[in-house]
Amino acid sequence: MNKKWSYKKRMIQFSLLMLVMAGITGCNLSEKGKTDQERVEEMVSALSLEQKAQLLIGTGMFMDLPDSIKNMFGDRKMDENTDTLYTNMVDRIRKYLPGAAGFSSEFPEIGISSQVLADGPAGLRISPKRKGEERTYYCTAFPIATVLASSWDTELVYRVGEAMGNEVLEYGADVLLAPGMNIQRDPLCGRNFEYYSEDPLVTGKMAAAMVNGIQSNGVGTSVKHFAANNQETNRMSVNTVVSERALREIYLKGFEIAVKEAQPWTVMSSYNKINGVYTSESHDLLTKILRNDWGFAGYVMTDWGGGSDVVAQMEAGNDMIQPGQPKQIQELIAAVNEGRLDEAVLDQNLSRILGIMLKSPKHKGYAYSSNPDLQAHAAVTRQAATDGMVLLENKNQALPIAENLKKVAAFGNTSYDFVAGGTGSGDVNEAYTISLIEGLKNGGFETDEELAAIYEAYIQENRAKSGNPKNWLAALMGGKEPVEEMPLAKALAAKMAGKADVALITIGRNSGEGGDREAVEGDFYLTATEKAMIKDVTEAFRAKGKKAIVVLNVGGVIETASWREWPDAVLMAWQPGQEAGNSVVDVLTGKVNPSGKLAVTFPLSYQDAPSAKNFPGVEVKSDQTDDAADLSGFSFMRRVPWEVVYEEDIYVGYRYYNTFNVPVAYEFGYGLSYTNFEYANLQLGSATFDGTLTASIEVKNTGSVAGREVVQLYAGAPNGKLEKPEATLVAFGKTRLLQPGESETLSFTINASDLASFDEAASAWIIEPGSYSLKVGASSLKIHQTASFEVDSEMNVGQVSKALAPQRSFDRLSLN
Ligand code: BGC
Repeated sequence: MNKKWSYKKRMIQFSLLMLVMAGITGCNLSEKGKTDQERVEEMVSALSLEQKAQLLIGTGMFMDLPDSIKNMFGDRKMDENTDTLYTNMVDRIRKYLPGAAGFSSEFPEIGISSQVLADGPAGLRISPKRKGEERTYYCTAFPIATVLASSWDTELVYRVGEAMGNEVLEYGADVLLAPGMNIQRDPLCGRNFEYYSEDPLVTGKMAAAMVNGIQSNGVGTSVKHFAANNQETNRMSVNTVVSERALREIYLKGFEIAVKEAQPWTVMSSYNKINGVYTSESHDLLTKILRNDWGFAGYVMTDWGGGSDVVAQMEAGNDMIQPGQPKQIQELIAAVNEGRLDEAVLDQNLSRILGIMLKSPKHKGYAYSSNPDLQAHAAVTRQAATDGMVLLENKNQALPIAENLKKVAAFGNTSYDFVAGGTGSGDVNEAYTISLIEGLKNGGFETDEELAAIYEAYIQENRAKSGNPKNWLAALMGGKEPVEEMPLAKALAAKMAGKADVALITIGRNSGEGGDREAVEGDFYLTATEKAMIKDVTEAFRAKGKKAIVVLNVGGVIETASWREWPDAVLMAWQPGQEAGNSVVDVLTGKVNPSGKLAVTFPLSYQDAPSAKNFPGVEVKSDQTDDAADLSGFSFMRRVPWEVVYEEDIYVGYRYYNTFNVPVAYEFGYGLSYTNFEYANLQLGSATFDGTLTASIEVKNTGSVAGREVVQLYAGAPNGKLEKPEATLVAFGKTRLLQPGESETLSFTINASDLASFDEAASAWIIEPGSYSLKVGASSLKIHQTASFEVDSEMNVGQVSKALAPQRSFDRLSLN
């Protein structure tokens, strides 16, 4: 009997059985009165081995990509042995949401529905147009993660998540592939814009707020990329060599917080290896740490094409393979039939997938509208972006722009062609991006038409030459890079200084998935043309007693020290989402007083970064070559055997600069305001730490305009058996909008987990005895109040699994 027939026969038998059961009991498997666990168990036992494999392996890649590329991802066509039922099912579900990144199989006769998985993380990514339809399906491009983190406002991030999750629900998706929450280890990682911070506490708190906000809609999230995926160079083959302590304290900590505080429905394992093992094949990571140590209750999916051995993935606890290929289905079936894989392992993977499936909108038959309130969400993004903008310089109160100054000359290509967000899968298909020029007009400014015409003509002429990303994936997915800056004639700057009241100069950058940035002019550094523009415009305007303001439209860290003294003010606008120009103008005019602070350090030069000498790693001669690698079908993105050693260890970001006294351009936590704040009356609930400690501080607005202040609490630990950074962030908060003269007392609770260090020898989190300092301030260097407290004796505050140990020794940065 051939396979097709045996499958059909089983299905017929099964359907009959269901009909009989329904007849006897007047119900079916999805009826009420059974616990979710019972329903899941029934579903699993009703599935054949083939169906199990089909559910564990995603249904393929259906993105709008050219055929040549699609073929490289693996031909979706089934071979002749493939069940027609399966082929038909795949053809059906791929139409559920055009542009979604992945789907899982459905078996309606068993009560199992497909799950629709879509990117993430700056908004929902789906195709804006559908064949044969007039209407469009745009989504809101919210501010990138770096902006949200710079707000230091978890309530705001929750609200953004709520709005984002509503689009997920109303467009018919089940899981948003977001938030991205890798640590910004190095300034050049091409996807830093999708990530929050160099600090794990900020990362974890932001991600937890985002997950809670999105999931409040009854849809799921996939926190990604788990873990230590801190670069794009050779991302599918890179082996990250890193200590257990750095992993636990820096690279895993944010995920731990998000899992414990928000229980994301799913986790996405990353492409890279950690200490020799692909994360998607790592039982240590996905079972011992994620589930046993942290209590994660959902399912794990691969990143798209990650890992190489489906059997190892299933055994590790990586429950779903995305996007999935037929040969992976066959491999799972063969592995069970040949006794290489215990079917019980698959049943466990399935149970986790089905447990989440029961909660999903598709399963519940939610009647989505395809009509979310995009206008309301535009208002959310407009406000959120302003809260994450960081005022870097402001000489003589150049900002806010005085009310009588109405004529603006806007320099820099990106003033006219603003970047809303980065490229790749994190790029949202939004209906529009408000440019700075449009934002200025909307805000009642008069922009110089002559200058606008010159820039617009230049951009048009040069777009083809320099606006296409070097990064192939960005290009493929329709990403754009700013056009190389127009050389500005001094005479034009002088002419404008005569006509306009104030100058704005925008510097733009873009980057994204598939490529890292470079420490070169035009990327990390400004080009000579850009510097000349800043200098010449500033001088021309200053000669007329007028001001020039730089707006940075970038997704991550750039060099600022060599030029920041020239202009009158510098505003870090980041890539602020689709309302970009409106958001920037709200801050420039003082409608919103900037309250963002940097969640990443800006070094003086790239070489100062602690990771610089180990980024993006080196080719290695003998990697374990993956014979099974081609199962993923992603051979075009593999496979240079590559290794990166995290020699800087726990000294990431400010933990390095502040401990080793390395001067920086702008320290972690830095940001100015249009008003001033005073800190007073730091009080600790106790002089000794007994598991928790409360602290409160009074913050007063002593300036002349209303504003909000981000308050940061750092703890400095005594020398003990483990070395410690100078101080680490243990809590943060933000005042409400304080009127001039108004005060607010902020209260904090410091928990054991905020204070503990990871002791590799004991596989435990410990707090060492001695005297600790608690420093409260406006940045990691601007400390306003300090208090101290004692820990009487060593506290073991969490015994965890021994896991992910490096396979060899390597140099680790140390104070000793
Ligand atoms: C990216 C993920 C993304 C997935 C689906 C991968 O290439 O790394 O972040 O969610 O594609 O588009």
